[in-house]
Amino acid sequence: MKAKSIFLLAFVCIVAVSCEQMGHKAVSLKEAYDGSFKMGCAINPFMVNGRNPEATELLLTHFNAISPDNAMKPESLHPGPEVWNFGPADSYCEFGREHGMFVLGHTLCWHNQTPEFFWTRPDGTPKSREELVETLRSYIETVVTHFAGKVDAWDVVNEIVAEDGGFRDLGWVKAFGGDGYEVARLAFQFANEYAPENTELYYNEFNVWRPSKLEGVINLVRRLRADGLRVDGVGIQAHWGLNYPKTEYIESAIEQLAALGVKVMITELDVDVLPISKEGQVIGRSLQDPQFQLEEFEEFLDPYKDGLPEEVETQLADRYEQLFRIFYDHRDQIDRVTFWGLHDGASWKNGSPISGRTNYPLLFKRDLTPHKALAKVLAIPEPKTAE
Ligand code: GLA
Repeated sequence: MKAKSIFLLAFVCIVAVSCEQMGHKAVSLKEAYDGSFKMGCAINPFMVNGRNPEATELLLTHFNAISPDNAMKPESLHPGPEVWNFGPADSYCEFGREHGMFVLGHTLCWHNQTPEFFWTRPDGTPKSREELVETLRSYIETVVTHFAGKVDAWDVVNEIVAEDGGFRDLGWVKAFGGDGYEVARLAFQFANEYAPENTELYYNEFNVWRPSKLEGVINLVRRLRADGLRVDGVGIQAHWGLNYPKTEYIESAIEQLAALGVKVMITELDVDVLPISKEGQVIGRSLQDPQFQLEEFEEFLDPYKDGLPEEVETQLADRYEQLFRIFYDHRDQIDRVTFWGLHDGASWKNGSPISGRTNYPLLFKRDLTPHKALAKVLAIPEPKTAE
């Protein structure tokens, strides 16, 4: 027997023995949660175009669902009145299809990352109501038709509900003169009209765990359905932290949404380990003021530049274990859990709500090796018994 074959045989035996000792524990997220929910990840063009093959391999090992981090937002697809840019989004969809993944389109109607010309005329004056309706209609028609059969689902409306359960007076809502429900209704109406029947249509939101906001989201879904519109699911974004939100709030959101009869998804999961970014995105913007750029503030606000201390690494692992225990216990109600990014280096949490920090919010580190959290997350599902 050649030396190479002996080596290979020895390797296979070691793997087999270790699997036996581990009680056939799954080595990948999608395997561990197979039969529970899809495992998703938001990806950027580098993972699709082969420029970072190690990241692509890691992605394909662990995930069976993808979300586009920025490629399908209005500013990416339609950056100028006469400009359409479908290339990167098409590559994203082809990648997902080629690898048999669930492919999400994200997002059609949002106040953010949407160019001003959607709401104003070339001379800068505000568009009339009719013009706005037509802009929204034709945008949704063009995009949804282009990606028909390429995406499995759309986040139709993103983040339109306010913390108090009303509507946020931003973007489309502001342009429409404050009628948030009308904007959501029109967006779902056009998505219902132009999307193939087997393309699912979702509402996606952050801080859904907060009772007042949850109520607003539930009311919105009920109203849309009462108006005869198909709403297939609600995404709970899950930009969370080491200590918030409380388990009871998360469980209540999952349960109340599931009771509506919609699919419930955890869509943008990350765990912020840095100070002063309570609730993921609220506090901290003013800390970018020059007065806070002093050394003493920097040390306080960006404490783990040179690496994550063991004690925080453990807190992160415990937090992820706690969250996946909740998700696994609610697996009958959850359709998908998606991380917002593959590894710490690709996370928006390094730039928000304070720019230029070093955060550690995901299961994989910058060098693509796993945090301790991965093993904890993999260990939660009960091993499947042989048929
Ligand atoms: C929101 C959006 C996402 C992304 C994240 C942060 O939650 O839905 O597309 O922009 O913020 O990056």
